[in-house]
Parts: sequence; C-alpha cells; structure tokens
Amino acid sequence: MEILTIDTKPIEGQKPGTSGLRKKTRTFMEPHYLENFVESIWTGIGGVTSKTLVLGGDGRYFSPEAAQVILRMAAASGARRVIVGQNALLSTPAASNLIRTRATDGGIILSASHNPGGIDEDFGVKFNNSNGGPAAEDVTGRIFEATKSIASYKIAETQNVDLSQPGEYAMGDMVVEVVDPVEAYAQLMEKLFDFDAIRRLISGGFTMRFDAMHAVTGPYAKAILEGRLGAAPGSVLNAEPKPDFGGGHPDPNPIWAKELMAAMNGDTPPDFGAASDGDGDRNMIMGPGLYVTPSDSLAVLAANAHLAPAYAKGLAGVARSMPTSRALDAVAARKGIDCYETPTGWKFFGNLLDDGRITLCGEESAGTGSDHVREKDGLWAVLLWLNILAETGKGVVELVHDHWAEYGRNFYTRHDFEGVDADRATEMFDDLRGRLDSLAGQEFCGRIVERADEFSYEDPVDGSVARQQGLRVMFAGGGRVVYRLSGTGTVGATLRVYLEDVSEDATAQDRDAQEALSDMARAAEEIARIEHYTGRTEPDVRA
Ligand code: G1P
Ligand code: ZN
Repeated sequence: MEILTIDTKPIEGQKPGTSGLRKKTRTFMEPHYLENFVESIWTGIGGVTSKTLVLGGDGRYFSPEAAQVILRMAAASGARRVIVGQNALLSTPAASNLIRTRATDGGIILSASHNPGGIDEDFGVKFNNSNGGPAAEDVTGRIFEATKSIASYKIAETQNVDLSQPGEYAMGDMVVEVVDPVEAYAQLMEKLFDFDAIRRLISGGFTMRFDAMHAVTGPYAKAILEGRLGAAPGSVLNAEPKPDFGGGHPDPNPIWAKELMAAMNGDTPPDFGAASDGDGDRNMIMGPGLYVTPSDSLAVLAANAHLAPAYAKGLAGVARSMPTSRALDAVAARKGIDCYETPTGWKFFGNLLDDGRITLCGEESAGTGSDHVREKDGLWAVLLWLNILAETGKGVVELVHDHWAEYGRNFYTRHDFEGVDADRATEMFDDLRGRLDSLAGQEFCGRIVERADEFSYEDPVDGSVARQQGLRVMFAGGGRVVYRLSGTGTVGATLRVYLEDVSEDATAQDRDAQEALSDMARAAEEIARIEHYTGRTEPDVRA
C-alpha cells in the first residue's frame, strides 16, 4: 500500500457549526474539500496514529465515497482500527454507543441530520470524542484553525474496502472492522427498558406507526419495534434508507412527516405515532390527533422516567437548551433536582452528562436523550414513551393532558425565517443587542418586558464560556421571546424566533398553540423589526 502526500491549499469556510461541518454535497465533492477537512480533524485531535475510530452515517448521497476516502486517510496516517457500520450506515446514537462501548478514540459521523440528501442537497462531517459526544468547542476550534493553514494531506493508494459484509479487512496495517449497525444498539435498548412490559402492551392490542422517513432508523425500528417488541409488520413506514431519503426532508415534524400526520389525524388512528430524522437522533411523538411538542415530550419523560428500569433510581438532574420551553423546569422544581440551561447544540450537554450532574436532557428541536450515549436519540425517546405508556396504562393524550393539569401548560412554537440575507440578519441582531438594556418596562402588544439579555453560558464543569448564544426577552407573567441565528444552515442565514407563554389554566388543554402565541409573535416582530431587516412578514416554518 503506497501512501501519497498530496499538496493542497486552505479552503475558506470550513468552520464546524452547531453540529460539525455542513455544506452542499457538491461542495464536499470538490477537489480536496473533504480531504482537507478530514486531515484538519486529524490535526485538531492530535493525529490518529495507533488510534481506533468509529465511522458511519445516515447513508445520504456521497456517503459511500466519503467513507472510502476517510478510511484511506486514516490508514495513511497510522490509525490502528476503524469500526465501520455495514454499508457505512450507523445512526448517530448507535455511533455514539459504539464509540463508548468499544473504548475507541472517537469517531466520524457522515450526516447532515434532517437536511435533505442528494447531489444538490446537503452533506456533513462531524467528529465525536471518545466519550461518544460531539467534539467540544476547543476541538472544533483547533480543527478550524488547521483548515486555515493546511498544506498537504496523506492518503493511501489502495482498493476500496467491501463494506457490504460484516468482517475484518486489512488496509495496510490498519484493520477495517465492518459491523452490523443495529445489533449493539438494540442490546443497549433492551438493557434500558422493560421490553416484556412493552411486548405485553402491544400484544394486548396497542397499535403504532413509526415513520423512518427513508432514513437510517428504518433497519433499527424494524429490528426493535417489529422484531423484538412484536409490533405488527408494516408498523414501520418508509423503512428503507435511501441516498436522497425518497426526495423528502427527513425531518420529524408535522410538516415533513406527512404520512404519519395523516395516519394520526385520520378516522382510525393508531394509539401511538413517532418519527425520526435522517441520522436517527431526533424524534417526534404523537397520540391520536395530538402532536406532542418536543419541549412537552421532554417534560413528560422527565416526570415519568423512573417508570423505566434504567431510571428507576430517579434522575440526577436535567438540562435543556436555552430556547427549549421551561416545562422541564417545572418538573425539576417539583422533584427537587437541578435543571441546567445550556446553549443550543448537543455538545453542551456532554460535560454535564460525563460529570453525572444530569441524567436526561433535550432540545426544542426534537432532540431528547440521556446518559446512555452522548447524542440525542430518537428511538430511545420512542422506547421510553412506550415503557411509560405500558407502566401507566394511559394513552398519549391522557398522559399529556394530565401533565398539563399538574404542571401547567407552556405554549410553545418556533418560527423560522429561512435563507435570509446574512448581513441584514447580523444588522438586526446588532441593532437589538444595542437596545436590550432599554427594553425592561416597555410594553409590546399588551405585554410588559421584565428583562432582556444576551445568553452566555459558563460550563460548570470546565469553566469554559460560550457567548452570544441568543437574545432573550422575558415578559411579566412568564412569556418569553428568544432570537437566534441557526448554526446548521447551508444557505444564507436562518433566523429562529422561539415563542413561549405559560398558562396555569386547565381549560387551556385544547387551545391551539399558534393562536395562543399570536400576541407573542407580534411582540417579537415589533421588538426586533424582523420585516424591516429581512423583508419577511411570515415565517417559512412554524414548528
Ligand atoms: C439545530 C437545532 C439544534 C440542534 C442542531 C443539530 O441547530 O436548533 O437544537 O442541536 O440543529 O441537530 P441550529 O440550526 O438552530 O443551529
Ligand atoms: Zn439528526
């Protein structure tokens, strides 16, 4: 095996965002683009000599080719072993699990999560640490620095490895170990949850639909829900992973999970509905006719997790990203446990989980997880829901309504303005930032501002500080507006406006969230002058 050293030059813009480097697929396919970034990862983590890595992803377009390049680059730089999911497939939580249980030095995940796949869509590369979680800011910072000074990379000249069959293959001195992507993950789930109780629930006539959205969770959901738990064949929809996700957005929300929505809002809905995203870390939960917001789902799971074997001893603490609704805080307060508020992005939960400060955490963007891995985990959330339903004997709607009756209801929505001009968006933030101090006491659409600030976070474990993590306006009575710019978009800027209002009113059960938050939405516009800066009067997405 010959090792080639290829001359290259820095390529602009290889800055990892909220979740690794995401770009258009064609950009990743340009000469040296992927190679430069991978070499910079090696530099950022202090080289790969004698290291063991995990490699896999959501199977999107260009993944098989990218996997071969990464293997050849790992071999050229002296890696000892790379554990690869069969056909380069691994859901993000399954990759996190392998990184941890096989005691590796980390892993590379090929995914752009819920973004569409295809030659004209998105691709992504993310490095996870040996704890199984996304690389922290200092590591991604070093990777970015390396992309700015790279002059060459090393790559082995050799044949592609056959990734279609489990087994061990040699690439020079490096071992490529191809593994079944589902097995270890399914075993982990079986340890965490009471599969017998869920099996009994299902054999008693409980029905479900899980929409895998033509993405990576298809094989996982088939093996676990239909295989091990006995859900009727066909309970898993769109189960075959496709490079373009069947042309859809593999994003589990009411807009993109159309088939599931139709089934759950139809005349004879199943008892439980769920979906996951491209790489299997997000989840959407539904009951008959009811979409459970991710913020509510997190709160319900925190309130009831002790009903599952893994969490029977209770929770050490919980955490949510700052824009996530404060429904979780109410549960934590009642249980007398800490509730941490972190910046957006899963990487900020890593230290809290590693330090044993929290057991459960989540984000409003359909991510929920626990200390079992260091990523959010879509199927895990589904199984925890099923375990809780089996133990309580309640349906989804009853469980959620009971929760609201007990803790109050936090109305919540996120409005996204996509593809806006990045400079104008920055101006909007600069303008509002400059006015934050003067907002307190002012009235907008009948609401009095109590305080306003820019969120920054000091990690209680390592003391690192993340600044400029979103502008927040808090109103008297508990309402809140948060403004952030997305760190995962690939075109222009995406403005996210998060709206929340609190109601203790038990009759608020059936109220529509958009309607309940319409005042808050108008206040958000008035405060930040969104139309003036972006030209938009309506958001593209109301999530
Ligand atoms: C989005 C979500 C965030 C999530 C991330 C990766 O990031 O908002 O919660 O962690 O995707 O799945 P954003 O585009 O807002 O930076
Ligand atoms: Zn994802």
